[in-house]
Amino acid sequence: MWKGRFAKATADLVQQYGESISYDWRLYRHDVAGSIAHARAQVKAGLLTEEEFSSIEKGLREVEEEIASGHFNFSIELEDIHMNIESALTEKIGAAGAKLHTARSRNDQVATDTRLYCREEIDALTVLISGLQSALITQAEQHAASVIPGYTHLQRGQPVTVGHHLLAYVEMLGRDKSRLTDCRKRVNISPLGSGALAGSTINLDRQQIADELGFDAVTTNSMDAISDRDYIAEFLFTMALIGTHLSRLSEDLILWCSSEFGFATLSDAHTTGSSLMPQKKNPDVCELTRGKTGRLYGNLIALLTSAKGLPLTYNRDLQEDKEPLFDSIDTLKIALAVNTEMIAEMAINVEACEAAASDPLLLATDLADYLVKNGVPFRQAHELVGQAVAASVSSDTPLDKLDLSTISEHYGADAQTVFNLQTALKARTNPGAPSIENVLAEVKRWKDSV
Ligand code: ARG
Repeated sequence: MWKGRFAKATADLVQQYGESISYDWRLYRHDVAGSIAHARAQVKAGLLTEEEFSSIEKGLREVEEEIASGHFNFSIELEDIHMNIESALTEKIGAAGAKLHTARSRNDQVATDTRLYCREEIDALTVLISGLQSALITQAEQHAASVIPGYTHLQRGQPVTVGHHLLAYVEMLGRDKSRLTDCRKRVNISPLGSGALAGSTINLDRQQIADELGFDAVTTNSMDAISDRDYIAEFLFTMALIGTHLSRLSEDLILWCSSEFGFATLSDAHTTGSSLMPQKKNPDVCELTRGKTGRLYGNLIALLTSAKGLPLTYNRDLQEDKEPLFDSIDTLKIALAVNTEMIAEMAINVEACEAAASDPLLLATDLADYLVKNGVPFRQAHELVGQAVAASVSSDTPLDKLDLSTISEHYGADAQTVFNLQTALKARTNPGAPSIENVLAEVKRWKDSV
C-alpha cells in the first residue's frame, strides 16, 4: 500500500509484530458498512460514477460474505482488516476499488469501525444484562418473604429477605445499563472524514455518511477524532464495574452454597465435581466469574496505559486498543449468559435461611428502637441493649428468653413482641427497606422497566 516510497520489503518479523488481522478481522462488517457509506458520499461529490459505486458495493458485499462464511484468505502482509478488504475489493473489481480510499485514512477508518463495533456490543450487553436482571427478579419475587440474615463485616446484622438481597444486584445492574447508555452517546459520533489527522482537501458530506451509518453526529476536531480512545476507556470501565458486581454476586453465592451457610443450592449443570473428593459440588462458575473480573480490570488499565503518553495524533500504540476491548466483551458476554442460566436454576433453601435469620440477636437493633419509642435516647438505648446482649452471651440464654425488666425499667411487658421476625420485617416500610410489600412493589417496578 505504500510501495512508492520504499526500496525494501517489510521484514518478516516486523510483519508478525505489527499485524492486527489475526484479531481485527472481527471488524469486517463495520468496515464494509463504513466503506459503502464513504463510497456513496464520493458519488455525491462527483468522485465516483453510479456504476463505479455499484461495483464497489457489490464487491464489498461479496467480500463480507466470504469472510462471514469463512472462505476469505486473510493475509498478514496486508496487516489489518482495512487493507485486507480494500485489496480483495480491488482484485475483484479493478480500477474503481482503487478509488475507494480517496479522502480517507486508515486512521479515521479504524476509529469509525471501532465505534460501530462498540455501539453494537453495547446494545448486545444491555440485552444480556436485562436477562440477568430478569432471572434475579424472578427469584426475588418467589422469595420476597424468605427471611435471611443481612450481614455487615460478614457478621449477622439484621433480618432481610432473599428477595431484597437479590434486588440489590438488580439495582447495580440497572446502573450498569444506564452507564452503557451514557457511554453509547459518546461512542455514537462519526469520525469519518477526519482523514489521517487534518481532514482532506476533498470534501465529502460527513453528515450524509454519519446518517447512513446511524451516528448521532460528526466529530468536530479532526486531530481529536483520530486519537480519541476515551469511548473505549469508558466502555472498558463500565465492563470492569459490571465485573465487580458479578464478582460480588459470585462471592455471595459461594458463601450461600457452602455447608456453613447452606442458603442456596446450584444446579448440577452449573457446578463441577472433584476428581478426588466424591462428595464435592463446586461453584466453579462463581469462582471463574470472580477470577475473570481481574481480566476486565487489566484490560482497562492496559488501554489507559497505552494511551497516556501519546502525542497527538495517531500513533501505532493505539492499535493496542483492540485486544483488551475484544477480550472484555467476550469475557463479559459469556459471564452474563452463564450467570443468568445459573441464577434461574438456583434453589433457595428457605428453611436454612429462616433458621439463620431466627437468631434473636438480629433484632437487637429493633429492641433499641423499642426503647427509643418508650422515650429512651438512642445512645442510652444502645447501651442498655448492649448490656442485655452481654448478659445473654455470658448466661448462655437467648436474648429473647432473658428477663429484660431486670436490666432496665424501660422494658415493658410487651418487650418480647420485638422478637417476632414477621413483625420486624413488616415494620420496615420506608422506601428502600425490606418489608415484603416493599420488595413485591420493587419486583413489580423492575418487571415493568427491565
Ligand atoms: N490497524 C491499525 C490500527 O488498528 C489501523 C490504523 C493504521 N494507521 C497507520 N497510520 N498505520 O490502529
